[in-house]
Amino acid sequence: MPQDVLQEILLRRGFLCPSYEVYGGVSGFYDYAPLGAMLKRNIENLWRRYFVVEEGFFEVDTPTIAPEQVFVASGHVENFADPVVSCRKCGTTYRADHLVQERLGLSSVSAEPEKLQELINEHGIKCNCGGELGEVARSSLMFSTGIGAGGRRRGYLRPETAQGMFILFPRLYAFYRKRLPFGVAQIGRAYRNEISPRQGLLRLREFTQAEAEIFVDPAEKAKHPRFAKYAGDRLRLLPRDGVEVVLSASEAVRRGVLPHEFLAYYLAHTQRFLLELGIPAERLRFRQHLRDEMAHYAEDCWDAEVKTERYGWVEVVGIADRTDYDLRAHERMSGAEMKAFRQFSEPVVRRELRLVPEMQTLGPEFRALAPKIAEKVRSLGERAAREFERTGRLEVEVGDERVVLTERHLRVEEVELRVTGEKFTPHVIEPSFGIDRILYAVLECALSEREGKRVLRLRPAIAPVKAAVFPLLAKEELEKLARSLFEELRRQGVVAVYDASDSIGRRYARVDEIGVPFAVTVDFESLENGTVTLRLRDTAEQLRVASREVPELIRSLCSGMSWQELRERLEAES
Ligand code: ATP
Ligand code: GLY
Repeated sequence: MPQDVLQEILLRRGFLCPSYEVYGGVSGFYDYAPLGAMLKRNIENLWRRYFVVEEGFFEVDTPTIAPEQVFVASGHVENFADPVVSCRKCGTTYRADHLVQERLGLSSVSAEPEKLQELINEHGIKCNCGGELGEVARSSLMFSTGIGAGGRRRGYLRPETAQGMFILFPRLYAFYRKRLPFGVAQIGRAYRNEISPRQGLLRLREFTQAEAEIFVDPAEKAKHPRFAKYAGDRLRLLPRDGVEVVLSASEAVRRGVLPHEFLAYYLAHTQRFLLELGIPAERLRFRQHLRDEMAHYAEDCWDAEVKTERYGWVEVVGIADRTDYDLRAHERMSGAEMKAFRQFSEPVVRRELRLVPEMQTLGPEFRALAPKIAEKVRSLGERAAREFERTGRLEVEVGDERVVLTERHLRVEEVELRVTGEKFTPHVIEPSFGIDRILYAVLECALSEREGKRVLRLRPAIAPVKAAVFPLLAKEELEKLARSLFEELRRQGVVAVYDASDSIGRRYARVDEIGVPFAVTVDFESLENGTVTLRLRDTAEQLRVASREVPELIRSLCSGMSWQELRERLEAES
């Protein structure tokens, strides 16, 4: 199918529109028009079914603007930048890794400016205009802003929804009753000042992410509690050695292609979600990031990629093992503890050094303050005891006072402790979905042709409009019945459209083009026996059903019942 057919349908039929169109448009921004907005919402709701309801995660909603500290801590201020290169002649700016990748026909390439520079020099890569390219540099992707009057406090628009969830960790840990693993999910806008956003929905400057952060004890990463559910799912994997393999999830872990069950589980879960959206298995693969392609926080990362006709393989989901990077970073910056507690199977006896206050010297010297000093000293751990052993001096703050203690006031003793557990920083596994890219991929995979007409084969569960109601002819009695059925569908929560103009063939074609999965036609037989025809968009097959059953049937067909099952049911009834 010609590449621009989809674009044309999406624009003409009210799915999408470049933002600020009447002002000439701004690259990297798209409006979702009525049908697009509904489709997007339905995809997000299916994601919720997978990542909130099924996984038992709860959803949060955190701000899109954060103070600078957050992104200094997370490493984004320092690292979140893309390599850019500009033409010395015409001034066009390119994302250097994309330019090199495209020109050399590679599936991935390093993001390091030095390596890109070498490749540009070695292969004599030039601008599209033929001009020489300048030096490869790094350009920050974050939009900055000022918070408060006069914008004195620097802030950034979030480049990922994730940080809001990491910062919430202490509250979430309490909410989940201090038990790991647990997950939290968020769907929301993210902002990146992309360098050359020329690929429609694939590279936006404001886009929607659906992210889940799964907090796990690193000692338990090897085994996912529900792994058995997906152990047999076959995954097409392209590891960083470049040799593609198709393996079951369990085999991939056993052979070490995937490092642990947690990552394998979320690859398989993601695959099920993408398949349910209607992306065919043969257009789906998981590609491991090269070491120098990975984000600064990741230890391992696999992208779910969809083969599109227009843009080739496109990353739609990134599934990363972020280790304890983010929680440690926020603990360091904020001073708030971001740790969990691991209970030992049985208590362990440990010998440790402790400081013991000498009350006979503390009492006379510090009088009323002495009990407080003693309490403070007893609360200090082994590190303070070793330091005191080394220096013979300890400074403590008690209330408003600072006191210096020496060997006259304290001694070091070895004590036996019964330890029941220990604190540790959890690791994070993160599936990060780009809803806009997924929506594009779904649309491209859904577009097909029948007898010269376009049919958008969106799965019923995500189609923006579920049913169309038509009177066969523009006759008052048919229109009356059709209208009442249309009203009843809406009353029962089914999104429907009504159309009485033009020939029935043209009306079917109109709704096929926007992906309405079912059309109901009221004809003369309907007036006699209360039945209507129910037509399946994908095959144009029609079944005769009782009009009063239509809303319930359409709801069932949109939530899992197949057309085949309906046909068999009707045959059994007749
Ligand atoms: P790319 O390499 O294509 O720039 P990325 O690796 O930076 O993407 P991630 O940082 O992993 O992307 O972001 C997670 C997900 O968010 C991606 O899989 C993608 O679906 C989506 N995403 C990222 N950047 C954009 C964008 N500019 N426009 C639309 N979606 C995006
Ligand atoms: N949270 C992953 C990313 O946006 O890069």
